[in-house]
Amino acid sequence: MDLPGFRRLKPVIHPRTVDRHLLIFRLAKRAYNALIIMKVTIAVINQKGGVGKTTTTVNLAAGLARAGYSTLLVDLDPQAHATVGVGIDPDALDGQTIADILLTENRHVSEIITDTYLSNLKIAPSSILMAKADAHLQSQHFREQRLSYALEAIPDFDYILIDCQPTLGVLPVNAMVAANYFLVPTQPSGYALRGLGDLLETLHSVKRRDTPWDYRILLTMVMGQARVTNEKVREILESLHDKVLQSVIRRNEKLNRAQSDDEPRDVFAYDKSSPGAKDYEQLTQEVSHLWPRT
Ligand SMILES: Nc1ncnc2c1ncn2[C@@H]1O[C@H](COP(=O)(O)OP(=O)(O)O)[C@@H](O)[C@H]1O
Ligand SMILES: [Mg+2]
Repeated sequence: MDLPGFRRLKPVIHPRTVDRHLLIFRLAKRAYNALIIMKVTIAVINQKGGVGKTTTTVNLAAGLARAGYSTLLVDLDPQAHATVGVGIDPDALDGQTIADILLTENRHVSEIITDTYLSNLKIAPSSILMAKADAHLQSQHFREQRLSYALEAIPDFDYILIDCQPTLGVLPVNAMVAANYFLVPTQPSGYALRGLGDLLETLHSVKRRDTPWDYRILLTMVMGQARVTNEKVREILESLHDKVLQSVIRRNEKLNRAQSDDEPRDVFAYDKSSPGAKDYEQLTQEVSHLWPRT
């Protein structure tokens, strides 16, 4: 009943209620994970831009698909470079992007899964609308769990790869909640490695109670034969040595050209014998052995 002279009070959700909801969600997710075998979901993540995240997501996804694994690429970056990278025009997607799914509660990624030029590779495409989804999610309850929920009940994929934007904001945190494995591309330079600590700390705090999960660092844009030249870099990597992949991605212009072509393609289609194709082939093998499909 409205009393005259009294301002109608907005319903307030008590912080304790939110905590309880979060706890229930976590317990339910743990039980769910224990009951079903979790899909291999790999987020390609680094809050730095230009380190090779999208190049890695597109070429690893293509490598896995070409090796016979059914693969879903989820493009979680408003810049939609991975979407363009598999030859899809983000402006031509009307209401059929991952942003449309994240903007509304209770929607599933299966509604917007799109075919690509490889029969084994599907994509949940992004568009500029993702920036709106990012802003919208800031004020939502369970904002970190939206992607995780949207990825439940999707058709069977051997691998799900998520390309993240270069921040540690709400969208990459959604990827952290949804994924069980993390690939961190980084250049072997002091500048590029700075910030790795922040990323790993955030990852550990988000994944604290989830099991199992793991991560690996992938050295990208490596120059020449010298894997690591700088003493400081070697020191940082030494302390993480069991978390650095054997495969490294050399700097190779073909990787750049394959993506900036009129008709973007993975490096295997662009030039099968290039160093870029060889490196991503090796990465595909290492990842599929390290994190085998369930
Ligand atoms: N190994 C490489 N050799 C040469 N160019 C690369 C390599 N990896 C990525 N690039 C290029 O560097 C730029 C940034 O890579 P990108 O994958 O988009 O980084 P991110 O997604 O982390 O921002 C792109 O133009 C890409 O084509
Ligand atoms: Mg990118």
